[in-house]
Amino acid sequence: MKLTNIVFFAFVLMLFSCKQDQSSLERKIPNRTATEPDFFPDSSLFPIGAYYYPEHWNRSQWERDIKRMAELGFEFTHYAEFAWSAIEPNDGQYNFGWLDTCVDLAAKYGIKVVMCTPSPCPPAWLSAKFPEALTKNEAGYTSQHGTRLHANGMNDKYRPFVERIVKKMAERYGNNPTIMGWQIDNEPHFATIKDYSDNAQVRFRIWLKNKYSTISALNNAWGAAFWSMIYNDFNQISIPNNKEGGGNPHAMLDFDRFTAQELAAFLRYQAAILKQNISEKQFVTTNFAYYKFLANTDLFLNRNDLDFASHTMYLLSTYLNYPQGEQSHRLGSGMELSFSAEMAQSITGYTGIMELQPGQINWGAYNSQPMPGAVRMWLWHCFGLGDDFVCTYRFRQPIFGGELYHNGIMETDGITLQRGGREYVETINEMKKVRQLYDKNAKIPASVSSRNTAFLWSQDNLNDLINNPHTTEWNPWQHYYTYYQNLKSMGVPVTFITETDSFDVKRFPFMVAPSYQLLDANLVARWQKYVEQGGHLILSARTGQKDRNGHLWESLLQQPIWSLIGAKMEYNDQLPSSVSATITMNGKDYTWHTWGEVMTADSATEVLATYKDQFYAGRPAIVRRRIGSGDVSYSGAWSNDWDMEKDFMRNVYKDAGAEILDLPNYFFVEWRDGFYVAVNYTSNPVNAPLSSNAKIIFGEKLVHPSSVCVWSE
Ligand code: GAL
Repeated sequence: MKLTNIVFFAFVLMLFSCKQDQSSLERKIPNRTATEPDFFPDSSLFPIGAYYYPEHWNRSQWERDIKRMAELGFEFTHYAEFAWSAIEPNDGQYNFGWLDTCVDLAAKYGIKVVMCTPSPCPPAWLSAKFPEALTKNEAGYTSQHGTRLHANGMNDKYRPFVERIVKKMAERYGNNPTIMGWQIDNEPHFATIKDYSDNAQVRFRIWLKNKYSTISALNNAWGAAFWSMIYNDFNQISIPNNKEGGGNPHAMLDFDRFTAQELAAFLRYQAAILKQNISEKQFVTTNFAYYKFLANTDLFLNRNDLDFASHTMYLLSTYLNYPQGEQSHRLGSGMELSFSAEMAQSITGYTGIMELQPGQINWGAYNSQPMPGAVRMWLWHCFGLGDDFVCTYRFRQPIFGGELYHNGIMETDGITLQRGGREYVETINEMKKVRQLYDKNAKIPASVSSRNTAFLWSQDNLNDLINNPHTTEWNPWQHYYTYYQNLKSMGVPVTFITETDSFDVKRFPFMVAPSYQLLDANLVARWQKYVEQGGHLILSARTGQKDRNGHLWESLLQQPIWSLIGAKMEYNDQLPSSVSATITMNGKDYTWHTWGEVMTADSATEVLATYKDQFYAGRPAIVRRRIGSGDVSYSGAWSNDWDMEKDFMRNVYKDAGAEILDLPNYFFVEWRDGFYVAVNYTSNPVNAPLSSNAKIIFGEKLVHPSSVCVWSE
């Protein structure tokens, strides 16, 4: 790259990050401000789109389909993420004609296009030419052509081809006004998530060398004296492979970091090519897969590369966390939709959902029909969460290929609206009324901002907990959800922050950091300051056990946080799932078994809950230390039903003067732009918490399962 280009590009990046800095603070509850980019103008609030794959259908149907899409009220479509072989059928030979036609058709019918880079699906000629670009999993199996995501985007052989096709597409469509923005890749991750190929091996060694400079620094960080692992040279290092178990946890943590950074670099280089070649009016994003499955995808690493992070969500996936209730398999996991949306929104301050299930899916353990109304409820939930748009996967149900049974908006005939499709159209029409009522100057109600909460996030903690759960009962996600679900049942707007963000007490009167295992003295000092400034900090079990390399401290258990929490940790206990032990708090009993820490509270520290049985009966399970008007609460135990955390958190919020709601689990209430939205994922009717001056816009106060109530106050 020429120096002038580099300088220009650095300048653009600088402008871009300034833009984010100015606006991101205000965005959690998305009130439009003049400084925000106008990718999603108020006049077309909450556009709804649908994926379309022209390459799957007869050319004679394209116009019919796109016209119909527009007539139904869809405002954008989505092309090309899996179309590399149709665009570049042979090395260096391009066929853009079909895509040009479909972009023109979208323009003709007044709908916009999200254009995608096709990097998840290298064509057969490429896989055949460079089989060494294909990923290899921990068992040594090399991906084959014929699936997707089979190449590693940072592979040195593969990357130049990606650069070439992305540049070609950006040059061709980067100034076309029909293209509203770009999606990089598709649910970016490398097929095997962790790539053990030869090329990844080489790149990992380079990464380690850059990180540690000397081999002795690496030996120390990895505790390589253990089991005679000492290395003399970086070239002796193999990617840590835990297939046999007992792998070095510090090496695995570094490989997790490397994998996440490689993925982020892959998105970054594509974003850079796009930004150099496209109009400022087109956004750049990617559709992160629901990251619960992808511990090595760290959305925060691309904060400065993407205009925003979008995400995908299939609420009836049997792999999600379900509410208890007889209809839960038809209602889906609203909690995970919410978690995913608030996480994505936290990256640059706004988000949209790029794939939302339109009906039955094909890849769950079983694939239930959504309850009538559920598809509409999901759309409204996205609206309430502040999403800027929703796109559904997909307009037409496929009649060939690997996703045969996946519903689309249309039935298999291509012309009949599917049941979920009808709910899309219903919601699209409801949004017309919302656009009329929308008041862009609506102020966040004081009650809502009084409970604003930061959720301190660290991918290192997640990975270290996955690598080292210490008990098979410890599922890091379930632990995060224990806190997250309880926040939502208080109607709390959650922003995920990382240690690179400021701990701003005014913006976030509350901060939760569940099982924040890896830390250093600097973080503890920042927490202390946050609390001294009046912040309310909630920490949970395992916090502060280890240093940043994942080593235990050469001191007593969790000693670095003792003075912060006002208690000393002695040991932790874990019980078989068949044993339920009891903790008591304010006269109420709670059961637990996964994890319980036994501590001694300092004299000035309040004991909120105590163990009722086991040989440590009477010892504290939850403590709170007050510092001025702030406080830090620490729960050393994890209750079976998450109810202890619920009651404990509610008391912390109430004592701090926050106005909180009292919602049943899986009944959500959100506020955005002057609208309150209540959605019911429970299997029972629930009354929405309307105030006396509430004006209902859609629905009624008694919200039935899969129903919605929308009101303003
Ligand atoms: C998503 C993926 C889509 C499609 C969809 C089916 O995870 O991004 O390409 O496969 O699942 O539900």
